[in-house]
Amino acid sequence: MVETVEEDPKSKVKSQNFKSKIYKLSEVKIDETGRVKTGEGELDSVLGGGVVAGMVVLVAGEPGIGKSTLLTQVGLRTKDVLYVCGEESATQVALRVKRLGGKGEMLLFESTDADEIVSKIEEQKPGLVIVDSIQTLTVSDLSGTAGSVGQVRESAGRLAGVAKRLNTPLFLIGHITKEGSIAGPRVLEHMVDCVLWFEGERGQALRVVRAVKNRFGPTDEVGVFEMTETGLVGVADPSHMLLSERVKNVPGSVVGVILEGRRPILVEIQALTNLTNMVMPRRVATGIDMARLQMLVAVLARRANLHLEGADIFVNVTGGIRLADRGVDLAICLAIASAFLNKSLAGDVAAVGEVGLLGEVRKVGGLERRVREAKKLGYRVASAESGKSVEAAIKKLLS
Ligand code: TYD
Ligand code: MG
Repeated sequence: MVETVEEDPKSKVKSQNFKSKIYKLSEVKIDETGRVKTGEGELDSVLGGGVVAGMVVLVAGEPGIGKSTLLTQVGLRTKDVLYVCGEESATQVALRVKRLGGKGEMLLFESTDADEIVSKIEEQKPGLVIVDSIQTLTVSDLSGTAGSVGQVRESAGRLAGVAKRLNTPLFLIGHITKEGSIAGPRVLEHMVDCVLWFEGERGQALRVVRAVKNRFGPTDEVGVFEMTETGLVGVADPSHMLLSERVKNVPGSVVGVILEGRRPILVEIQALTNLTNMVMPRRVATGIDMARLQMLVAVLARRANLHLEGADIFVNVTGGIRLADRGVDLAICLAIASAFLNKSLAGDVAAVGEVGLLGEVRKVGGLERRVREAKKLGYRVASAESGKSVEAAIKKLLS
């Protein structure tokens, strides 16, 4: 059951003087000059080169991931920003700015009433509006509490309306609830022009901003940030950062190349195997999907004759990055085999390939781009071409 605002049917009748026009496609004017840079290069590239007039952007992520930090930084670097503090007080935002060591000016407005915010935007006509967060806003027509689907949807609708009317870019911050369903943001995805997911492991420095929807740009760009003492810093070369502490020529460490959007990134996969003292040996995955790990372990046991049934297996992706790209399968398999056989991989080899249930190594998309990135960091790529089965790859690469 979702609460909605009831409209008086009588108020609808007056809509007889319709004003909307029909355009010929060829006559529609396109204004490409209106892009405004946010001042955060990584964010701009995810947005497709900056924000467009009237663009509504939803920034969704778990609490504590750095959404407020990022948008405060945007507020400081962009002209004419109105920052709506629904969650924190203006003092708290000012304290954060002080901690960031930031210079710059913006307008802070403490309010959780969507209509009040709309009227302030109309009055103030800011160049950019940031609302932190949509889950704290309410409209008085509804009785539901802040954060309920009805309130979130209605508040966002009214704010998006004023953004479109005044051609003001609008950032809405939305929290993902613990269950992973974004009780707020999910219901807004169709209402906004752009949805950015802010991801990362808490306690780890690396953050990835990904566009999952963008009406004004590509969705295959990602922005990479590092959370530091003085805020979020764009990371132009994440591969270098992720591999900077790697110890070479040690069993259990293998480099893989993932594609984040269009961007190839080198990651280090670490594995440790140990004789188990349990009836059910442990399988622990950090940074990769548990089901994926279990599948790869089964493939290794069955297709590559590794007797892993008596071993605890731990797999970790360093740097706190989460991998969804299947192209890293081969690297995971090699890391486990390397740890189990206590043989290290040649120091300059990066593995790329998806591993199937038959133990075959399959090609993955964007191989050229991955090879190029690997080369830049001094790695040569072992892929499906250099070993058709995972067993052959293990024989060939681990000596
Ligand atoms: P925040 O932006 O408040 O998260 P969100 O708005 O997504 O809930 O950032 C939360 C974390 O970031 C907090 O635990 C402290 C940390 N942080 C830093 O490490 N350095 C900084 O400069 C700032 C401002 C925050
Ligand atoms: Mg916040």
